[in-house]
Amino acid sequence: MPRHIDTLQTPCVVIDLDKAEANLQRAQDYADAHGVRLRPHIKTHKLPLFAKRQLELGAIGITCQKLGEAEVMADAGIEDIFLPYNLMAPEKLARLKDLARRVTLAVTADSDYVVDGYAATFADSADAPLNVLIECDTGAGRCGVQTPDDAVALARRIASTPGLVFGGLMTYPPAGNSAGARQWLEEAAAKLADAGLPAKAISTGGTPDLWRAHETAIATEYRPGTYIYYDRSLVARGVATEEDCALNVLVTVVSRPTADRAIVDAGSKALTSDLLGLSGYGTVMGYPDAVIYGMSEEHGNIDFSASAKKPKVGDRLRILPNHACPVSNLFDHVHLVSGDHVVETVAVAARGRVD
Ligand SMILES: Cc1ncc(COP(=O)(O)O)c(C=O)c1O
Repeated sequence: MPRHIDTLQTPCVVIDLDKAEANLQRAQDYADAHGVRLRPHIKTHKLPLFAKRQLELGAIGITCQKLGEAEVMADAGIEDIFLPYNLMAPEKLARLKDLARRVTLAVTADSDYVVDGYAATFADSADAPLNVLIECDTGAGRCGVQTPDDAVALARRIASTPGLVFGGLMTYPPAGNSAGARQWLEEAAAKLADAGLPAKAISTGGTPDLWRAHETAIATEYRPGTYIYYDRSLVARGVATEEDCALNVLVTVVSRPTADRAIVDAGSKALTSDLLGLSGYGTVMGYPDAVIYGMSEEHGNIDFSASAKKPKVGDRLRILPNHACPVSNLFDHVHLVSGDHVVETVAVAARGRVD
């Protein structure tokens, strides 16, 4: 007899399996229809089970943000991993070399310093060189070389270094401006071709512009992450509906200190403090006018003054968090549910692997 979600201790994460599956399938159908190759980012779920499902549905490999996450996924049998991160320091580079022996691997660099670290580590690996893509800042203001000419200069350095191969370009485009990123990548790809260093792979991504992925025809792969669960920030952007969102935090009302205020047993250690430009720390499902206006570590403060319906002490609520990915990192386990029943409780294998 499956467990009912009312028997789960709160706060906890519940993942609606049917919704997650529908989200994955919809994105893969879109990708298949448009000839887009998906390389999903597993930072959102951190679960080998979902990474394997993404591959079964047609993904060409996975993306991990940290070496530790990639090690967990390799241990689970995943064979093709992109690690778009500037990796440095001897211990970490030694781990990278071990990982490169086990899986098909690509990494990124955006500076001579990072390339030099890879070069020193893989100097004796001419038979199995490290595939290095160049991270490009196409407007998001994160890591990345700043101009297509900088990309060409770094590509030359990678291509002329024993133990390394120049793999192409990678970017995390600014949300809502995939056209600007496309222009940047097209210019860089043309300059690389002129320099005799064609970009084999051009990797872009992001759930905010997932449904426009096909417009960046020059890209060879697309890395969506949050699309498996979606979250309140993506609902606010119009990328998904609340109904599509697969991850909720289940909480209990532990106090009703005033007629309008409720305190729940989930604060920043369960919901994170991420606002992502929104007001309030999440949506209380079924109470659209409630506002999660404040949090301490273990308490969430909710204003129900605009809500006709108000919960009682002891009531359980579902919260749709602003940002699903860091919530996954806060829980040892998540409950996979179908409707109101727990199908399975799984360890979040790659949580905390920020090294
Ligand atoms: C390098 C990289 N690729 C892909 C993604 C996935 O983005 P999203 O969660 O918006 O789908 C991220 C998210 O931060 C990222 O950093």
